Amino acid sequence: MVNGRDFTGKVVLVTGSSSGIGEGIVKLFSALGANVVVTGRKADQVKRVAQEVQDLSPKKLKPLAVVADVTKNGDLNNLLNQTIKTFGKLDVLVNNAGVGMFSHIKDPNFMKVFDTLIRVNLRAYLKLTHLAVPYLEATNGSIVSISSIVALVPMKLGTAYSISKAGADIMTKTLALELGPRIRVNAINPGMTQTNFDASGNSGADPALVQKIVTEMFGRVPLQKVGQPLDVANGVAFLASNDAQYITGANLVIDGGILYNSGGIL
Ligand SMILES: NC(=O)c1ccc[n+]([C@@H]2O[C@H](COP(=O)([O-])OP(=O)(O)OC[C@H]3O[C@@H](n4cnc5c(N)ncnc54)[C@H](OP(=O)(O)O)[C@@H]3O)[C@@H](O)[C@H]2O)c1
Repeated sequence: MVNGRDFTGKVVLVTGSSSGIGEGIVKLFSALGANVVVTGRKADQVKRVAQEVQDLSPKKLKPLAVVADVTKNGDLNNLLNQTIKTFGKLDVLVNNAGVGMFSHIKDPNFMKVFDTLIRVNLRAYLKLTHLAVPYLEATNGSIVSISSIVALVPMKLGTAYSISKAGADIMTKTLALELGPRIRVNAINPGMTQTNFDASGNSGADPALVQKIVTEMFGRVPLQKVGQPLDVANGVAFLASNDAQYITGANLVIDGGILYNSGGIL
């Protein structure tokens, strides 16, 4: 009944928070009173977001800024250890750091693309979750993983990417079973969201073909606009809040409605 979005006193760690959706998520949690952890590989971007995050905090709380590559076990250990050392606990883990690479099964480097996507988009989600569970149990905390609508419907050139995101979805559901009642585990499936996400990435996929698919997708969004990081962040704040206290193992689709209007493009 009271303001469920008050995160005063809570500690929130968001991977990939130096850009895009993750940046939107740490900014919202900071504005809602939380202590947050800003992280990514690029030190200058981590520093920039950390400064902006502090400005948004009602009490000007200083975030923890950590440069880390989520594909490195040592970096993940350090990220979590520094969080606990600095703030003493963890309430919300948001698995978000990800890369988009689209590749046809016939592309020569398809398996290289697949290995990268699994390492960043799936293994890192699981590894950090594995490390964080004892701390989240201690706080009755919550996990939110950023998946994608392409985990729910297939998209041409998306075999490898979709598999990585479908992995995040099923991880969410199995962990909801394993970690209840102490920890709630949910996923968000965004559609097209305006960020630095590069749909052609370094995958070798034809950029013109990727752009054609993206343009066609945009024409099919019922709400006729591209989603913003704040649209996704609002969903994360809801799932992490007490307002969602009876929600676990769920997928929250935030896509302007395209999931039901993909017409075979997705
Ligand atoms: N934008 C969309 O349309 C869309 C749609 C559905 C789902 N998503 C998902 O949303 C999530 C965020 O993507 P975004 O759109 O916000 O893209 P973005 O603007 O490119 O941000 C990606 C973030 O992940 C970090 N990152 C990537 N690889 C990393 C690594 N190896 N180690 C540590 N950090 C790493 C990046 O930091 P550095 O580059 O500095 O390392 C950056 O902070 C991803 O999981 C993506 O799959 C995006």
